[in-house]
Amino acid sequence: MDNDTQRTGGPNDRRFSKQDEGEKTLTTRQGHPVRNNQNIRTVGNRGPATLENYDFIEKISHFDRERVPERVVHARGSGAHGYFETYGKVGEEPIEKYTRAKVFSGAGKKTPVLVRFSTVTHPAGSPETLRDPRGFAVKFYTEDGNWDLVGNNLKVFFIRDAMKFPDLIHSFKPDPVTNIQDSERIFDFISGTPEAMHMITFLFSPWGIPANYRQMQGSGVNTYRWVNKEGKGTLIKYHWEPLQGIKNLTQKEANAIQAENFNHATQDLFEAIDKGEYPEWELCVQMMEDHEHPELDFDPLDDTKIWPEDQFPFLKVGKMVLNKNPDHHYNEIEQAAFGTGVLVDGLDFSDDKMLQGRTFSYSDTQRYRIGANYLQLPVNAPKKHAATNQEGGQMSYSVDRPKGVNPHVNYEPSTLNGLEESKHEVNHHQPYAEGKLIKETIDRENNFKQAGERYRLHEDWEREDLIMNLVNSLKPCQPHIQHKMIHLFSKCDEDYGKRVAEGLGKTIEEANSAMSEEFADEITPAKGKLPKNG
Ligand code: HEM
Repeated sequence: MDNDTQRTGGPNDRRFSKQDEGEKTLTTRQGHPVRNNQNIRTVGNRGPATLENYDFIEKISHFDRERVPERVVHARGSGAHGYFETYGKVGEEPIEKYTRAKVFSGAGKKTPVLVRFSTVTHPAGSPETLRDPRGFAVKFYTEDGNWDLVGNNLKVFFIRDAMKFPDLIHSFKPDPVTNIQDSERIFDFISGTPEAMHMITFLFSPWGIPANYRQMQGSGVNTYRWVNKEGKGTLIKYHWEPLQGIKNLTQKEANAIQAENFNHATQDLFEAIDKGEYPEWELCVQMMEDHEHPELDFDPLDDTKIWPEDQFPFLKVGKMVLNKNPDHHYNEIEQAAFGTGVLVDGLDFSDDKMLQGRTFSYSDTQRYRIGANYLQLPVNAPKKHAATNQEGGQMSYSVDRPKGVNPHVNYEPSTLNGLEESKHEVNHHQPYAEGKLIKETIDRENNFKQAGERYRLHEDWEREDLIMNLVNSLKPCQPHIQHKMIHLFSKCDEDYGKRVAEGLGKTIEEANSAMSEEFADEITPAKGKLPKNG
């Protein structure tokens, strides 16, 4: 039998005889053995092809659908599995005093987790050396169902109101005409967004390029609430501290890595876990009594602010270890879906406006990106069973009604042995809210003080890199944007403004006088409202 005859996969083809068919035999998704995976079916070996090429059409049409839309933000990412081990206390106090969440009770208890790290603005195949915040999303598969803590590496964010998120992201994404990221568009937006100065002072320093995912911090950024058995709430900020230490890159170091390897962070994480060098982070919280705190010069719910560590110490609550690489990146990481609304009993939202806006956005985009039944996928489903009356939808795979429940009843209430509401009584946290429905900025904006403090806290080499990166990014911008930015930097710290101005061949005075009165009002929106130190 010559080669050509073999490839027809005819009845005499020994390679595909019945006794050879076993677990390794290639099949179609319908389970039919594939006898010829090299040629489409044609009239003669030069074509034309025929429409009943079922195996070929199945193969190519599945390939044509291999991608779901990439995440609108945080598209480039990698992840791993592991566990969280609770210390059973918060600092030196019993944790139950503040939260009844079971994930934190009983020192030594382990909860499985999935973590996905990411960059924010750049697309799925982009280099991991680019200046960008890094995402740090953790899914805890707790005994009470899933809890997601969706954070970033940096402790603050650009904006404090969810209304501005699409504009922020559009300015950082490529120009809609040229399809190229453009620093003039970025600083055009930022120069009208003074609350971003704190984040910018981090992002353009080496803190904007973590050396890899293992050596970076994580932060919940937004303010959450813990609720105890009595229903009492406490405001909480979450922070992950890497036990591997923290390492960031200068622009020059990042450029050198990018010239050789644009997957370095994914590779670093995968190889470390593969070698058994499991990365670990300690989870710390900062706590604040649940009220407005008029004594502070910032609003505790403002995510452009850090809660000063000397007043609100970092208290350790547990440790996370990542000890298993995914078996399949797409199934377990690309299709993973995290959201800020995914909370368990004892963990709650705060009134943080950004957090509330985010909470709508995540599950909304996931229904579009993955599909209405994205929570049926093993990586997103709770390890504890889900028992719902949901039905159908695209790609419905499982029925959420456990054995012992009447399969005919998909509604509640029912007298026919359907699912029932939980009878477990809890003291709900029921905050009282009253006020006019308005669209208004918060009172204590204080946009520049912490940004100035951050500028002064940077080490010399970090400050130098920050100035160089800002100057290089501002050079291509039109003069009025440069002037507005110099003005904003000088409001944070005079030296900050002076050095950026010098780098652009200008002075603060020049920048200030070049700005029209109109601009001055626009970039000082808190006029008359700022506390003295604003
Ligand atoms: C991903 C919206 C602010 C951290 C996403 C996604 C959306 C989104 C639509 C894509 C989710 C997906 O396709 O599965 C928003 C909105 C925000 C906001 C509307 C502000 C109003 C933030 C902030 C942080 C953050 C402040 C940091 C604390 C993340 C992370 C991911 C993500 C880590 C990636 C999750 C993953 O790995 O799948 N965000 N986001 N986002 N966001 Fe946000």
